[in-house]
Amino acid sequence: MLSERVKTLKPSPTISLTAKVRELKSRGVDVIGFGAGEPDIDTPEFIKEACAKALREGKTKYPPAGGIPELREALSEKLEKFNGVRYKPSEIVVTVGAKLAIYLILSALINEGDEVLLPSPYWVTYEDQIRLCGGVPVLVPTSMGEGFSLKFEEVEKRITERTRLIIINSPTNPTGMVYRRREIERIAELCLKRGIYILSDECYESLIFEDSEFFSVASLSEEVKRITFTVNSFSKTYSMTGWRVGYVACEESLARVLVSINSHLVSNTATFAQYGALEALKNPEGERFVREAREIYRRRREIIYEALKEIPEVRVLKPDATFYIFPDFSFYTSKVGGDVKLAEYLLEEAKVAVVPGSAFGAEGFFRFSFALEEDGIREGVKRVKEALESLV
Ligand SMILES: Cc1ncc(COP(=O)(O)O)c(C=O)c1O
Repeated sequence: MLSERVKTLKPSPTISLTAKVRELKSRGVDVIGFGAGEPDIDTPEFIKEACAKALREGKTKYPPAGGIPELREALSEKLEKFNGVRYKPSEIVVTVGAKLAIYLILSALINEGDEVLLPSPYWVTYEDQIRLCGGVPVLVPTSMGEGFSLKFEEVEKRITERTRLIIINSPTNPTGMVYRRREIERIAELCLKRGIYILSDECYESLIFEDSEFFSVASLSEEVKRITFTVNSFSKTYSMTGWRVGYVACEESLARVLVSINSHLVSNTATFAQYGALEALKNPEGERFVREAREIYRRRREIIYEALKEIPEVRVLKPDATFYIFPDFSFYTSKVGGDVKLAEYLLEEAKVAVVPGSAFGAEGFFRFSFALEEDGIREGVKRVKEALESLV
């Protein structure tokens, strides 16, 4: 008999979709995949080389559970220079991806029945992790009409005696939007007043295009920094999803607790992977790679936005950031009985994979990842448009 907690777990919709696309491709079917939650660009050579060198030099044993000292030092410099927040190396914990950082924080803070405010649409892992830790996700809606921005009033009215934490993910997966500074300042003040921690997941910070101002939540003030867990990752920034290197920065006594949980769960992030991550930060090539990748995604954003706008009855906003765009297909999903059904139809008829919005708490929407070549984007959206024509 399985535990009650595990019974609520849902399989990751993006991972199962990616598996389905891979299986179709292996059978020679010409599928265009807009489902992947990761860059299509390979990890840069200089990072791979640093990892290989570490292996050759015998960096193959357990490192400290909080991360190799050089990486914690380099992250402290990065956070000051790029994010405008001063964290000591001892306030930084290197984790097996941002995913594990989030799990460490939740397991450190949540007692059975504690509530976690989760802006919606949301990245699905948050919801499942909150439940796994015995917490209750309390959704805070955002709307397309308001550019999916998080509103102070919506947060305020959902706070109860049991509210322990709010998750802020800006830039946001799946909408690609960046929250407005003024609103987050007000929400952070409210959290301070009500004794609520903030988890700020900033994994897509490097993929912000023009027009939107990025800021780290912890940079708002010293008081806000004290209640904030700043979570980040090498996955999207340096195309290192498979390496599993992320980190969290927070107040020192909390960091010590996270290190302790980490040591019991996984011991550490793979030693040689940490040397690759260190090189990504230290080598000037790292900044160049990030700039070039951002340009690639920026061009693709224009292409997919313009193409989706051409589909009648689809509402779409141009994302501020990330490689996701989140259009409203409800005109069509209502005709076939929901977004999951329409996604299945598109895979079947058009050989195009998209992730249904219901996986992110937003029925009627689709998440398109534009981490694929420009021609694939054009062809994929054209196929979607044609397949939908036969539905009206
Ligand atoms: C918002 C968000 N946070 C965290 C992650 C996980 O990152 P990592 O690969 O570092 O675990 C993802 C990956 O899709 C994400 O979209």
